[in-house]
Amino acid sequence: MFKNQQIAADIFYVGVNDRQKHKFENMISLPNGVSYNSYLIVDEKVALVDTVEVQFGDIFIDKIQSQLQGRTVDYLIINHMEPDHSGSIRSIRKYYPDMVIVGNSKTLSMVEGYYGVTDNTLEIKDGEILSLGKHKLQFHLTPMVHWPETMMTYDKTEMVLFSGDAFGSFGTLDGSVVDDKLDVNRYWDEMARYYANVVGKYGSAIQKALKKLTPLEFKYICSTHGPVWKKYITEVVDMYDQFSRYHGDDGVVIIYGSMYGNTELMAETVAQGVAEMGVKNIIIHNVSKSDPSIIIRDVFKYKALIVGSPTYSNELFPEIDSILRKIEIRQVKNRVFGCFGSFTWASAAVKRLKTFVETMKWQSAEISVDEKQGLKEDNYKACLELGRQVAILMKDLVDEPEHCV
Ligand SMILES: Cc1cc2nc3c(=O)[nH]c(=O)nc-3n(C[C@H](O)[C@H](O)[C@H](O)COP(=O)(O)O)c2cc1C
Ligand SMILES: [Fe+2]
Ligand SMILES: [Fe+2]
Repeated sequence: MFKNQQIAADIFYVGVNDRQKHKFENMISLPNGVSYNSYLIVDEKVALVDTVEVQFGDIFIDKIQSQLQGRTVDYLIINHMEPDHSGSIRSIRKYYPDMVIVGNSKTLSMVEGYYGVTDNTLEIKDGEILSLGKHKLQFHLTPMVHWPETMMTYDKTEMVLFSGDAFGSFGTLDGSVVDDKLDVNRYWDEMARYYANVVGKYGSAIQKALKKLTPLEFKYICSTHGPVWKKYITEVVDMYDQFSRYHGDDGVVIIYGSMYGNTELMAETVAQGVAEMGVKNIIIHNVSKSDPSIIIRDVFKYKALIVGSPTYSNELFPEIDSILRKIEIRQVKNRVFGCFGSFTWASAAVKRLKTFVETMKWQSAEISVDEKQGLKEDNYKACLELGRQVAILMKDLVDEPEHCV
């Protein structure tokens, strides 16, 4: 019944859209949904590249069967074992029991660990080629471009890169799957949000992978999430290069927490100080209201971050603590930082913010502002000055060469 969309000669899209899940990895919001992409290469031998989340197994198999008209799947190539892609392995093996599972040694040990499968597997090594007939598939191991077993599969015949999570994006594929038939403007921010939240920690692994892929020429990049890239390949590779170098655009992100408005007023004032230096790109996030995945995205996008927190039970405001932890986990590099806070009887928040910036090894503004109770004139001025200092440091910040592999 299914009319699968064709990408290139003999290559068909058999992925699915997830419009139901609220949070990816049970953490990251999905206002625009997400797709789990899988591809079928129909040659003398038939290869399936990755699978989909387990709850979409039935429709996934229907799509494959519609394409194959009674033929079997000879190989299942697993670029990535995370269950959003490997989840349907067990069900698909029931339909195609002779199908050979292709992966590297780490993949195959995970296939056993997750699904108890040990037979009908083929271990491949970096650079090895598998022939399907016309199509020659070459495997490129790209460890930690999300997990240790991740690899990419390059169809040398059609110049198609099956890239796993790399170059992926949130957002469902509505109607079409290839970028030149979609409104791509809907995806840029979602791609940045996907990068920052899902693979953001693995900048150096991504740099290594990009280097490894440099000699290859691509007509299509088929990621496991979001559009198939054809027209915008240069843009998406460039975007990954920039992000994985921790390059930030000019802009100041201000994150604050506030229960009664004192810290919030400081945030507004700091922003005014930033603006006095001619910076227009100022993004203010109330940590209790903004979506954390958008905050993380913006921290990856821009050069400067200023954080404000009230002291709360001798600690940071817990929501600020939580977002800082998320930033720390992702080991974001080379940012300019400033901080401020308010308290009533004994200050703790600003001290903790200073410890945070030391941990991150970022450049910090000399001034910080710590107000006891309501904001008064001297600290009002200090907030303006904090904004100005961060703006100056931000304009002088250059990408650090040691972050570029
Ligand atoms: C639940 C709670 C815990 C607090 N804990 C502390 C504290 O440990 N030390 C302190 O100096 N102030 C404490 N405060 C006072 C706040 O830090 C202070 O009122 C601050 O200015 C609040 O900022 P806001 O108006 O931006 O919410 C606490 C306030 C609340 C509501
Ligand atoms: Fe993944
Ligand atoms: Fe994924």
